[in-house]
Amino acid sequence: MSRVVVFDHPLIQHKLSIMRDKRTGAKEFRELLEEISMLMIYEVTRDLETEETIVETPITTCKCRKLAGRKLAVVPILRAGLGMVDGFLNLIPAAKVGHIGLYRDPKTLEPVEYYCKLPADSTEREILVVDPMLATGGSASAAIQFIKNRGCSHIRLVNLIAAPEGVKRIQEDHPDVDIYIAALDDHLNEHGYIVPGLGDAGDRLFGTK
Ligand code: PRP
Ligand code: URA
Repeated sequence: MSRVVVFDHPLIQHKLSIMRDKRTGAKEFRELLEEISMLMIYEVTRDLETEETIVETPITTCKCRKLAGRKLAVVPILRAGLGMVDGFLNLIPAAKVGHIGLYRDPKTLEPVEYYCKLPADSTEREILVVDPMLATGGSASAAIQFIKNRGCSHIRLVNLIAAPEGVKRIQEDHPDVDIYIAALDDHLNEHGYIVPGLGDAGDRLFGTK
């Protein structure tokens, strides 16, 4: 069974409460999502392997630690996942970025794929699939399956807000994928929106409504 890690850090919760507010405009919404993403990636990467390295400081030589093991790839689910990429890259500039284009059919709520481009060496990387919203879980589950079909096996899912229905779906479909979130909300409404949620993340990020 995959782990669900909820980040209840006060800074994350404070910023998220401003994002949820319907009066928050696109500019501030984008900035807050980038800031929260930066705070989240700090915790998501807590268990990355390190190895010893010898460093000569201006004073002496000392043993330090540097990252070892698998390199990272960030894979946003288009569109809204794009809003989390810069926050991750600010802290892990060497990470590569893949893209998966999916939209949720408004009638069936089923995900429809329209684009997929992953780094050439993605099978050797730890893949962080990112999307602010995990609602039914259909989009994230499909994205993870596309990535697995391309031979990747080390995958984590990072969302801002999840509904219990989405968490359950990922745990059933992908028990090997840990889920990192800033909030576990109450339920989905009849249109598949997370309650209380923050509305349509893509529209709020890009001002399309
Ligand atoms: C939103 C969101 C997720 C998906 C979540 O994207 O960013 O990708 O819905 O819903 P699900 O868990 O029920 O699949 P949307 O389909 O609205 O596309 P957009 O990012 O292009 O706005
Ligand atoms: N997609 C969103 O952007 N928001 C939701 O609440 C559900 C799906």
